[in-house]
Amino acid sequence: MALIVPSILSADFTRLGEQVKAVAEAGADRIQVDVMDGHFVPNISIGTLGVEAVRRSTTLPIEAHLMITDPARYVDDFLRAGANVIIAHREVLPDPRPLLNYIRQHGAKAGLAISPETPATAVADYLDDADLILVMTVHPGFGGQALIPECLTKVTQIRQMLTQRGLTRDIEVDGGIHEGTAVQAVVAGANVLVAGSAIYNDRETPQQAMQKLRALIGH
Ligand code: DX5
Repeated sequence: MALIVPSILSADFTRLGEQVKAVAEAGADRIQVDVMDGHFVPNISIGTLGVEAVRRSTTLPIEAHLMITDPARYVDDFLRAGANVIIAHREVLPDPRPLLNYIRQHGAKAGLAISPETPATAVADYLDDADLILVMTVHPGFGGQALIPECLTKVTQIRQMLTQRGLTRDIEVDGGIHEGTAVQAVVAGANVLVAGSAIYNDRETPQQAMQKLRALIGH
């Protein structure tokens, strides 16, 4: 059993509310908003306005994946916008603990993300401070990329670290997750799957895409 978290990055923004409701009705567990600043990643996407729009469209938890260089500067804004989970990147946090603590103290779940080039050991000291570890399975910045298989090794390493310490935490994978990669991600130890282009594409409806993924990974 794993959670499915559609990312709106590939949604049709001319009808974002409809697209969010479609996956919510099809059993999505959370909605991810990919926030990009054009500095930490080469792309610029959406900010708090995106979270506010999703907040108006569903009661599901919203996770703000902050692919930005200065997450601490914007956490309050995303909390006010309605984010329930705030994920920041290890690569921009010499010491993630203060920010993770701040997010938790302000009523949201705290996530720590690692990009493909960052080893699993980079989060080893912070497993107790985060509610989830997000292992990027593509280089952050764009949807529709192919999963980098080597990243799944880090999922297994982190799951082993958690088990050794008696910790239960979500391990989330994000990037290139679809019907051909979902099961291997779960087998590697992930229990939260983010999917953007696998859910929002021109081959099928979001509901159909959700049902296909759910059939593969169970309830
Ligand atoms: C990359 C984004 C994507 C997005 C999902 O920066 O974080 O991973 O959430 O994209 P897909 O599922 O299309 O690979």
